[in-house]
Amino acid sequence: MATALAFSHTRNPAPATPERRAQLMTNPGFGRHFTDHMVTARWTSEQGWHDPEVGPRRAIELDPAAMVLHYGQAIFEGLKAYRQPDGSIASFRPYANAARFQASARRMAMPELPEELFVESLRAIVEVDVEWVPPAGSEEALYLRPFMISTEASLGVRPASSYLYSLIASPSGTFFPGGIKPVSVWLSTEYVRACPGGTGAAKFAGNYAASLVAQTQAAAQGCDQVVWLDAIERRWVEEMGGMNLYFVFRNGNDDSATHLVTPELTGALLPGVTRDSLLTLARDLGYTAVERRISTDEWEKGVGSGEITEVFACGTAAVITPVGWVKHAGGEFQVGNGEPGPVAMRLRNALTSIQRGAAPDPHGWMYRLR
Ligand SMILES: Cc1ncc(COP(=O)(O)O)c(C=O)c1O
Repeated sequence: MATALAFSHTRNPAPATPERRAQLMTNPGFGRHFTDHMVTARWTSEQGWHDPEVGPRRAIELDPAAMVLHYGQAIFEGLKAYRQPDGSIASFRPYANAARFQASARRMAMPELPEELFVESLRAIVEVDVEWVPPAGSEEALYLRPFMISTEASLGVRPASSYLYSLIASPSGTFFPGGIKPVSVWLSTEYVRACPGGTGAAKFAGNYAASLVAQTQAAAQGCDQVVWLDAIERRWVEEMGGMNLYFVFRNGNDDSATHLVTPELTGALLPGVTRDSLLTLARDLGYTAVERRISTDEWEKGVGSGEITEVFACGTAAVITPVGWVKHAGGEFQVGNGEPGPVAMRLRNALTSIQRGAAPDPHGWMYRLR
């Protein structure tokens, strides 16, 4: 077996021209344009992980009986590489994503990618596609998308005996180019995303396929996003679309009395790296931050009494997104004054400043890739 970290390198013979790349990076949006290269590595039951490679970005060839196409063993991750003021390039807590990728693999009976191979693959693509990392000083970054699929050609329903790991990269722009705008959410009681013992805590492709119909329903209700509730009672808040949620309980202007609540990890929601980091950052800023169950009833009543002053969602792509409006089968209500709240904005600024290298990194979260 080749040593896990010995990547072979093949340069793309026809990369985007500097002019084309500059054009694509002017207003990159999210996930629309891709860099010139990709990483691949293979796993078989005989050889384990082998043949890690950085090569030109190209189509993946699959047998029509490849098991991923039939039985859906597919997992992914999402993180960003940020250009720092000194020209270096760093990502945010990549070992947390590596660990979550392993946890997702275990849930799907897939082989675990060694953490070092995961992080080395990030380093390898950033090295070869460094020109695609947006300039320092903004929220623009290179979005990194590691993923793994089963490749064995067989129609037997069982864990496959061969897999492909791959990493692609995509320059991503500022999520809210026109300024931060709160979203409206639809509380989904008809559809559920996850259930006890299910796949909700894994970054598993099928979870996202299953969410689309509810997202469509939310849009039909005039809402931007769906909020998922627990599968059994349909009243405990889990998460929003592809982001975790936070509730701000405030008492006047006293920061020390500000108290943040995020739904506890029950196994049915994705353990977000941003969610976890905000628990720490909130405490650093003098707030109390707790993980516990919170119901839709408590949400609506808390907003009505003025006890809950802000609600926001958090995740790698948009960092922090305020929730301004809530709609459900029985009615609707506004959160706060419908504008981004001060606690959400303070936390957002604290986190993005660390990621951009504009503030000290007391927890050692930034990891240099180049
Ligand atoms: C379902 C879901 N919840 C939450 C998150 C937020 O996770 P993170 O903060 O690690 O990006 C994501 C995005 O990865 C997600 O897909």
